[in-house]
Amino acid sequence: MAAYDGVVELYASLFANRLETQPFARAMIGTFAELVRATGNLRTADVGCGPGHLTAMLHELGLDAFGLDLSPGMVDHARRAHPILRFQEARMESLPIEDGALGGILAHYSMIHTPPAELPELIAEQGRVLAPGGLLLVSFFGTDGPEPVQFDHKVAPAYSWPADRLTELLDDAGLVPFARLLHDPASERGFLDAHLLARRS
Ligand SMILES: C[S@@+](CC[C@H](N)C(=O)[O-])C[C@H]1O[C@@H](n2cnc3c(N)ncnc32)[C@H](O)[C@@H]1O
Repeated sequence: MAAYDGVVELYASLFANRLETQPFARAMIGTFAELVRATGNLRTADVGCGPGHLTAMLHELGLDAFGLDLSPGMVDHARRAHPILRFQEARMESLPIEDGALGGILAHYSMIHTPPAELPELIAEQGRVLAPGGLLLVSFFGTDGPEPVQFDHKVAPAYSWPADRLTELLDDAGLVPFARLLHDPASERGFLDAHLLARRS
């Protein structure tokens, strides 16, 4: 995913508006933050944080949020844009976080490039670092079933997922989905915007 290093400034200029034009995603993140606050464990990772705008949003929503991304360019940008917040280079496959430490994980379109066969490993890693009762919000491109579909994304090949299939994978990892929002996006890409909220059992 080194490809993101080459598009840092472009990506940040397109997406760093903190979802001002995306009320559904904003509502799901607000709901997620409220549920994390209710657990009493505010420590929250924004995994695949990109330029860090959503890490900042989680911070503004009262969470002790930090960002992780495998792209050094994205991490560098996020640090400069949000100097009071913590950002670290890391892969979602191997999170530098202790077992059961987090109250929340946000994965906002950050697992879209992961080949389907590798996704269970990433999800298991998220289950490892979430405390029991901790919350996960996953946002992705939704498609009608039965299987994920690869498509050409501007940065790197990506996959759209049937919400039911992703729900099953989360459930298998002890991350129990309890809310979902699917809606037509403003974009012409042809997929739904999909958001799943799950709780660590
Ligand atoms: C589509 S961008 C989403 C960025 C941000 N979450 C947002 O919503 O604007 C995907 C991000 O995930 C990061 N990423 C992809 N695969 C990753 C992995 N396995 N581990 C860590 N970061 C990853 C990329 O470097 C990129 O910054």
